[in-house]
Amino acid sequence: MNINPCIEEVLITHEMIQKKCEELGKIITEDYNGKVPILIGLLKGAVPFMAELIKYIDCDIELEFIDVSSYEGVSSTGVIKIVRDINCSVEDRHILLVDDIIDTGLTLNEVIKLLKDRKAASVETVTLVDKPEGRKIGGINPKYIGYTIPNKFVVGFGLDYNELYRNLPYIGVLKRSVYENK
Ligand code: IMP
Ligand code: MG
Repeated sequence: MNINPCIEEVLITHEMIQKKCEELGKIITEDYNGKVPILIGLLKGAVPFMAELIKYIDCDIELEFIDVSSYEGVSSTGVIKIVRDINCSVEDRHILLVDDIIDTGLTLNEVIKLLKDRKAASVETVTLVDKPEGRKIGGINPKYIGYTIPNKFVVGFGLDYNELYRNLPYIGVLKRSVYENK
């Protein structure tokens, strides 16, 4: 397979992603069997991961999407703006947030707060990639994690740089020359 010339190194191959989705799907099936959870994907990055993951979830689920943009103002708590909200009530429902990558944890923290305010029965997170070294707040520990990676800027399989590279079938480190001196 040809590797995009802007990629320094492939960290997670397509085969690794598929295998991990199969593993996570089985665990999620066991954990949520009979609960009919709502999987809420965070647009846009979570789309390829969600599409792959749900192939391996063998119980009833519903799908929703939310699009939030995070702004870090003067306070370190982070403020999110809901660009597109979900279309259903989450009251008394089990929610599984589907995320592409967790870095600072600020976006997820706000989305979890929002869903708990709306009285969800439970809120858990599945993320394809975790960068725990990037955390700016404590307490953000996703229940289901695909791969833990070092604090490097990666793209592919939903992850973008300026909206590009989401379509790569693997996750790789972006060459510094692509975003430096721009
Ligand atoms: P945070 O956890 O609030 O910092 O936000 C995570 C979001 O930041 C992800 O959903 C991505 O959109 C973006 N992000 C964080 N790290 C990376 C990366 O390495 N590559 C591409 N996007 C990233
Ligand atoms: Mg993003």
